[in-house]
Parts: sequence; C-alpha cells; structure tokens
Amino acid sequence: MNDKKSHAPQLFFKEMLENLSMPGIIVSPDRKIKYCNKDAESIFGYSPKELLGKRTELLYGDRRKQPKAKREIYNLLDSYGFHSGKADGKTKNGQEMKLKILTFLIKPEGAVVVMEKSVHAGKHEVDKDKFLRDLLDNIPDMIYFKDRQNRFVLVNKAHAEALNKIPEEIIGKTDLDFFPKKIAEKYFKDDIELIKKGKPIIGEIERARRSDGGITYVSTTKIPHYDEKGKIIGIIGITRNITDKMVAEEELQNYKERLEELVKKRTKELEEANDRILRMYDIKTEFTSLVSHELRTPLTVIRESVAVVEEGILGEVSKKQKRQLAIALDNIKRLTRLINDLLDLGKLESGKMKFDMTRANVNELLGEIGTSYRSTAGKKGIELELNLNPLVPNVLFDRDRIAQVVHNLVNNAIKFTDQGSVKISSASDSKYIKIAVKDTGRGIKKSDLGRVFNKFEQLARTGKTEGGTGLGLAICKEIIEQFHGKIFVTSQFGKGSEFSFYLPRDARR
Ligand SMILES: Nc1ncnc2c1ncn2[C@@H]1O[C@H](COP(=O)(O)OP(=O)(O)O)[C@@H](O)[C@H]1O
Ligand SMILES: [Mg+2]
Repeated sequence: MNDKKSHAPQLFFKEMLENLSMPGIIVSPDRKIKYCNKDAESIFGYSPKELLGKRTELLYGDRRKQPKAKREIYNLLDSYGFHSGKADGKTKNGQEMKLKILTFLIKPEGAVVVMEKSVHAGKHEVDKDKFLRDLLDNIPDMIYFKDRQNRFVLVNKAHAEALNKIPEEIIGKTDLDFFPKKIAEKYFKDDIELIKKGKPIIGEIERARRSDGGITYVSTTKIPHYDEKGKIIGIIGITRNITDKMVAEEELQNYKERLEELVKKRTKELEEANDRILRMYDIKTEFTSLVSHELRTPLTVIRESVAVVEEGILGEVSKKQKRQLAIALDNIKRLTRLINDLLDLGKLESGKMKFDMTRANVNELLGEIGTSYRSTAGKKGIELELNLNPLVPNVLFDRDRIAQVVHNLVNNAIKFTDQGSVKISSASDSKYIKIAVKDTGRGIKKSDLGRVFNKFEQLARTGKTEGGTGLGLAICKEIIEQFHGKIFVTSQFGKGSEFSFYLPRDARR
C-alpha cells in the first residue's frame, strides 16, 4: 500500500515526460537514471538500455562537485523543491552542448530533470575573446594598438615576427625603439595628427629598404580608437606587406614600357623599309622606262642596217647569209616588241600613261581590226567572223588603247588556234558594252586560267617559238581596269577560249 502510494508520483511524472516535447529524465536520490523520454534519448544519442542505471554525469557535468555550488543547489532544492541552472552536456559521440536544466524534487524517489538545449550551445558557441585572439595571431597582417603616447599596448604575432621580437619585448615601447630615427619620426608625426584630428589613414603605401638591402613595400591603415565617452585613446594600426604585389606590378610596368619602346622601334623600322620599297619601286619604274628608251633608239638603227643588208641593197648576199640575217631581224622585232610592252606596262602601272578619250563606237574599231587580220587568219586556214550588234551605243574611250587590247586578244586567238574560227563580237546591256574574242583553239587548262593575266606568264608551249613576251594580257588587264572595266577568260582545254571585256557605258577618266 505504502509502496503503491510512493510510486504514484513517479508514474505521473513518467507520463508527463512522455508527452513533453523536451528532453527529460527521472533520477534516484543518488542521481542514477531511472527513466528517460524519447527527446532525451535523441539529443544525447543513447538507447534507454545504455542510460538506465547510469549516473547523470554521463549526460551532463555535475557542477555539484564544486562544494560551493553543490551546497547552493541543495539549499535551493530543499527550500523550494526545484532549481534551475545551466550545465555542460555531452552526447554519446562526444559533442558538447550548453543545457538549461530544471530540477524538481519528487520525494522520496528522487527528482525529475527537464533540459533545454541553448541556441548557441555546443561547439558552435563563439568565445569572442578567443576568437579575437585567434584572429589576431593567425592573420598575416601586422596589427597593433598604440596609446596616446605612441606606446604599443598590443601587438599580434605577425607584427612581433616582423620586428624579430616576441610581443612582450614590444609592449610599452615606441617606434623609436625599432625603426631608424627618420622613419620613426614620420610615424610619430602621422600618429599625433591622427590622434588630434581623428582622420583615419587608409591603405597608405610605403617603400622601405630592408637591412639586407632589399626593398619592402607595405600598405598601412591607421584608425583612431575611442572610449565610451568618445575620446580617442589610441590608434589601431594594420600594416600589410605588399612587396610581392608591388614587385609584380613594377615588373609589369617595366615590361609594358619595354614593349611600347619595342613597338615604336619596330614601327619606325617598318616605315623606313616601306619608304625604301617605295623609292625602289620609283627607281625601278624610272629605270625600266629609261633603259627601254635608251634601247629603242639603237635597236631601230640596228634593224634598219640589218634590213638594208638583208635586202641586198649594199651588195649581193648569199642564201645562207640571208637566212642568218632573217633570224637576226626576227629577234630584233621581238626585242622591240618586248621593249614597247615593258614601256607600256611601266607607264600604266605608274599611272603615267596618257589617255586620249573620245566618244566613239567600238563596232567601227572592231570592224577595222577584224579586216586587218583576215589574211593572217586565212593563211592558217582559220575563219575570221565578226558578229557586231548595231545597237551598241557610243562610249568614251581611248581608241588606241582599246585597239591595243583587241589586237592582243585577236593575235593570241589566231596564234593559239590551228583550225576552226576566231569570232569577234560586241553587245551591250544597261551598264556595259561587252567585246568578246572567241576561238576554237587549243584552250587553256583550268589550273592555268588564273595565271594568264600575270606578267611574263606564258603557258606550256607547243614547241615552236610563238614570239610572245608574256606581257600582252597583263597590259590588257591594266588598260581595261584603268577604264573601270573588267576582263575575263573562259576556256575549255583542247576546244577553245573566249576572252571578253566590259567597258562601262558612262566610262570616264
Ligand atoms: N586564245 C588563247 N588560247 C590559248 N592560250 C592563250 C590564249 N591567249 C593567251 N593564252 C595563253 O596565255 C599566255 C599569255 O598570253 P599573253 O600575255 O598575251 O602573252 P604572249 O601572247 O606573249 O604569250 C600565252 O602565252 C598563252 O599560253
Ligand atoms: Mg599575246
């Protein structure tokens, strides 16, 4: 009976703890755990089996071990029946946490203990002093606090190390004890100014020569430190070694300057080379036309003389001699053509060719040229056809130069055709007049088409000398382009070619 009665409060509390959403336990007077609820199991990480019968020390430090605290708690429990306090809890896997603890006496069975985890409890709680100490000693920047008399009150590890001292050797001293007089005085002046005016110095860069002769760069920030009444009581200083950064920047700057110099030098060299090339080009053009002129005169004399001998005017020549002279004449003619072509090209390329522009009809010119080639073509058994469109309008052009182009094209066409025909035609559209020379000759390989307008370009020959200079089509292209026209070639190897050029209807130069 007595027994039952004595158990009644315990049952009541068990039920209460079961429904409570906070950790709770019931303990015996000798502080052994007799019951624990689900929340207590989960925050400590133990199973009921592991807890029952164990002392509360397993879950939280027993501060009652400290005699004074112990007495206090017992006094409170005795007089009021409960006590609230704090304790350091520990989970099964060793994690620490802060607990608030509420203890109710349930005589004679012992006590009910209800716990609450503090929000900042456990390992995550920040000890501000320790945090600051750790921060100061692990940061690579030099940090210090100086009082109004410029004495170091606090320095961190980095600062002490930079001065090759331990912090204790620095406290109470001033810059004068560590730096050359001149530098220390400058610091002193800065500090006095800062204390007087309260204006911080932010990121000031200083350059200093180290004892080993090297250069060190530091960036210094100094801020006034106030007491509660707003009085400046000292200076907080942060000095950062920025030597690496500055050296890298200096190198970059040097490199940039060197590069700029180099670019300037190279640009100048290029300009000079360009000038030289331009001068050479002028000299070349002048040289070509000079030489050509100088050659033309004696060549004319030679040709006349050879012709006179060959014709037998100066006395009888044998057949053998005649044949030799004929070869000489042939080569003289060829040389003359080459000189004339070179002169023309030189003038065209340097823009010194004079044009005599008149408005005329190309059909007339084409007719004349066609007729002049009839017999040459006939000798080779080639038909020469003219297909001129009477609607082709008059345009402005230099008659001689266009004649030169057409001569070149017809000449080539007959030269490179052995049978069939050469057709000269004209046509026009709204913008251009078109002149074409089409043959049924040997044609041009596709791979060679791109080269025919180049200077001195003569494609693989048939064997016999064809007496060309390789300059004809280059001259044609120059002339047509100077009239703002275009020249094209289409060809089928072995079947024939067509050279055509377009002149703008409103051509002007
Ligand atoms: N109608 C054509 N048919 C085939 N090949 C041609 C024709 N016209 C020009 N060519 C080729 O283009 C080359 C260059 O012609 P051109 O500049 O007039 O020089 P050249 O007549 O002195 O050889 C010729 O040597 C020839 O190989
Ligand atoms: Mg030619």
